[in-house]
Amino acid sequence: MTADIIDGKAFAANLRAKVAAMVPAFREKAGRAPGLAVVLVGEDPASQVYVRNKHKTTVEAGMESFEHRLPADTTQDALTALVEQLNADPAVDGILVQLPLPKQIDESAVLATIDPDKDVDGFHVVNVGRLSTGMHGYVPCTPLGCVMLLKDRLGDLSGKDAVVIGRSNIVGKPMAQLLLAENCTVTVAHSRTAHLPEVVRRADIVVAAVGRPEMVKADWIKPGATVIDVGINRVPGAEPGKTKLVGDVDFAEAVEVAGAITPVPGGVGPMTIAVLLRNTLVAAHRLADVPYDEKAI
Ligand code: GUN
Repeated sequence: MTADIIDGKAFAANLRAKVAAMVPAFREKAGRAPGLAVVLVGEDPASQVYVRNKHKTTVEAGMESFEHRLPADTTQDALTALVEQLNADPAVDGILVQLPLPKQIDESAVLATIDPDKDVDGFHVVNVGRLSTGMHGYVPCTPLGCVMLLKDRLGDLSGKDAVVIGRSNIVGKPMAQLLLAENCTVTVAHSRTAHLPEVVRRADIVVAAVGRPEMVKADWIKPGATVIDVGINRVPGAEPGKTKLVGDVDFAEAVEVAGAITPVPGGVGPMTIAVLLRNTLVAAHRLADVPYDEKAI
């Protein structure tokens, strides 16, 4: 049996359209558009692509996009000063500092400078704490996007066995917290987990976020399981000099065993920006004191 393909690209387009549809009413009530500030330090090529896409989709959703590009040798103090300026700017509802940052900058110190109520990435320790204690806050975009895809596919997730492979602060850990909040039984596995294939084989839901190309094989997957592949790995392509993107799951194999699976590209990837816009819309409502129905999106 071949798995259903979870179309994250279409889901994300729909989510962006829903966000865009709610912007005019916000503008009407608040007298301004929701605003997202994105800060890029240096010239990392992948980050440049992400930041360009964020700007484009923010504008397409009818929001204000404030882009700040700083040179690679920017000091900690200069970056902190910019973040503080954005914290104080009433036109800015969401602040995103693109990661990774150059080596001379202390990433956690910068993230700690962002106003938690503008932290649409959900990386500030206050939002990490809010998530782990079930309080309202901001949830990192990629894992929240994964949960949206899972609920769309499976409905209620209560009682499901979920295995998250990867323990990063951006995906693995918040993913585990979100699945726990959905009443899953959650195992966080990682590169040092003993008997990893056996552990993964128990799962109704597999979330692969380990950053190793095509690591998860078909015989790791319980037949019929739902597989969410967060990996984006660039590897040599079929032709010399060409590259291609693959996930952390061996898709060609896994598609024969899973019940449903996200492809790479076109699965989880497009969800991140769509959820970022959703988080910015929520932040704008909270900061402008305009009521927001959390069930809307
Ligand atoms: N770099 C890779 N993914 C992300 C993300 O979701 N947010 C930020 N700020 N940087 C990233």
